[in-house]
Amino acid sequence: MTKITNMKSLLNIALGLIAAVSMVSCFQNNKPNYQFMPNMYEPVGYETYGSYEIFPGGMEAMLPVEGSIPRGWNPYEYPNTNEGLEQARIELKNPLKVTEKNLKAGGELYTVFCAVCHGDKGDGQGILVTREKFLGIPSYADAGRNITQGGTYHVQMYGLNSMGSYASQTNELERWQIAQYVMNLKAALNGEPLMEVQLDTAKTTSVEMSEENLPMVDSSEQNIPEDETSEQQH
Ligand code: HEC
Repeated sequence: MTKITNMKSLLNIALGLIAAVSMVSCFQNNKPNYQFMPNMYEPVGYETYGSYEIFPGGMEAMLPVEGSIPRGWNPYEYPNTNEGLEQARIELKNPLKVTEKNLKAGGELYTVFCAVCHGDKGDGQGILVTREKFLGIPSYADAGRNITQGGTYHVQMYGLNSMGSYASQTNELERWQIAQYVMNLKAALNGEPLMEVQLDTAKTTSVEMSEENLPMVDSSEQNIPEDETSEQQH
């Protein structure tokens, strides 16, 4: 009796070993293994960037519909041409009030983005100029240029020859704050009085802008945490 049991268990062990060895030998690190329940791994919907014949170009990722505007982005109507710049120089006005807050923010941004070339005073003597790394930078007081806030906004949007665009590094509010600050630099260079500072009556700058009926986005609004954003969309 015990002999038979021994034989049986030996056989079981042997079968178990064979099964284990054959399973291990089928296992390859460089290939996906069998999936017993593929739905656990593969989404029912289309995979991001997946290739599917049903889509134009055969891929899931498609361009936004023509004319789409990213959230918080206001279309800018003036074309990137000399005429566009001239038009912006004359017509385009700063929607922001002249306030301590805007000037201070504009000054800080100016130091970060513009002063290396244009100089802290806006005289065209930034550190890159004094080190002769960059030439041909005008003073804001250059009479021939007639620098206005509209023109300053325009060149921040598109750049101008060897000056690059700042449209992706600053938002609309920030570009107007910089433009405001540049105007004061120009006035100081010309020995003219600075702009009159108005009382900051609005609670936030975005409220101030909506009073002017301009759907601009305050930089603080762009940092809404994920969950709040989705709540707003419902
Ligand atoms: C890399 C150097 C550089 C930086 C940084 C730079 N600029 Fe300029 N900027 C130039 C040059 C060069 C010109 C002259 C372009 C030309 O007329 O060909 C210019 C021209 C201008 C003008 C005159 C435009 C006109 O109407 O003639 C304004 C205003 C201006 N920049 C504002 C800014 C502001 C605001 C910033 C920061 C957001 C900035 N620039 C950053 C190099 C720079």
